Amino acid sequence: MSRIAYVNGRYLPLRDAAVHVEDRGYQFADSVYEVCEVRDGQLIDERRHLDRLERSLGELRIRMPMARAALSVVLHEVVARNRIGYGTVYLQIGRGVARRDHAFPPLQTPPSLVVTARPLNRARNEASAEKGIAVISLPDNRWGRVDIKTTGLLPNVLARQAAIEQGARDAWFVDRDGFVTEAASANAFIVTAHGTLVTRQVDHGILRGITRTVTFEAIKAQGLALEERAFKLEEAYKAREAFVTSASQIVLPVVTINGRTIGDGKPGPVAMALRREFHRFAEAG
Ligand code: PDD
Repeated sequence: MSRIAYVNGRYLPLRDAAVHVEDRGYQFADSVYEVCEVRDGQLIDERRHLDRLERSLGELRIRMPMARAALSVVLHEVVARNRIGYGTVYLQIGRGVARRDHAFPPLQTPPSLVVTARPLNRARNEASAEKGIAVISLPDNRWGRVDIKTTGLLPNVLARQAAIEQGARDAWFVDRDGFVTEAASANAFIVTAHGTLVTRQVDHGILRGITRTVTFEAIKAQGLALEERAFKLEEAYKAREAFVTSASQIVLPVVTINGRTIGDGKPGPVAMALRREFHRFAEAG
C-alpha cells in the first residue's frame, strides 16, 4: 500500500507530495511541527499537542491554516488512509510560500500545512526499552527559544548523528552552566539515589514535552517525589536511573551516559513502571 500525505488541501501519494521551492519552511525553517503517537489507530494526547501547536504558532505570529476541528479531521484522515495501527502522525505548519525575503510575507499569504503518518515497529521499540539506550552529552548550541517547536532542528540533527557515530543512541544537551537541558528529541529525567524524580523546569531552554507532562501524572499516581529543577551530569552519573520521554518513544530508559553506567546498567523499575502505566493517563481519540 502506498503512503498518503496531506499537502495544502490535497491527499496525495507520498511520491507526488511536494512543497514549493519558495516555501518558507524549506528556506528559513519558518515553520512549526508536532508529532503525536498513534495507538490502535487513535491519536494520543491530540488535545495537548494542538494546544502546544497553537502556542508555537502564536509565538511566531503564524496563522492556523484552518480551524482546529478541521485540522483534527485531517490528522485522523491521514492516519486512517495510511491504516496506521501503531505509529506516529506528523504535522507541519509554515508561514507559506513567498518570494524569498527574510521579513514576513504579506498578511494574506496562506500558511502551508503538511501531514504525514508512518507505522512504527512495536516489537523493536519494546526491545530497545528493555535493553535501555546509551547517550552522550554535548554543549547545547541551540537558539534561545527551543520552547517553540520549530523545524529549525540542525543542532538536534548534528547531535543525534554525533551520538550514533560514537555508538550511542541519543545526545543530552548541556547548557553553559553545566546543567542538562534535554535530549535531541526528548526530555531528560533522572531518579536520584533517594528515589526522587528530577527533570529540568520549563523555561525557554527546553520544549515542554507532552509526554513529560503526562508522565508527571503517572509519577504522582505512584506516590513518587518529583522535582522540576536543573541537574548536572555529575548528579546524573550517580543517579539510580535515567530515562527520556517523547511521543514516539514514551518512556525510554537510559543505561549509560558518556560511557558511564547508570545504576546497575539495566533499565530501572521506576522508568519501566512509568512506561507501562503511561497510557492510563494519556488521552486517546
Ligand atoms: N520530539 N524535546 C525536544 C527537543 C523534542 O524534539 C521533543 C519531541 C521532546 C518531547 O516532546 P513530546 O513529549 O511532546 O513528544 C522534547 C518529537 C517526537 C520529534 O521531533 O520527533
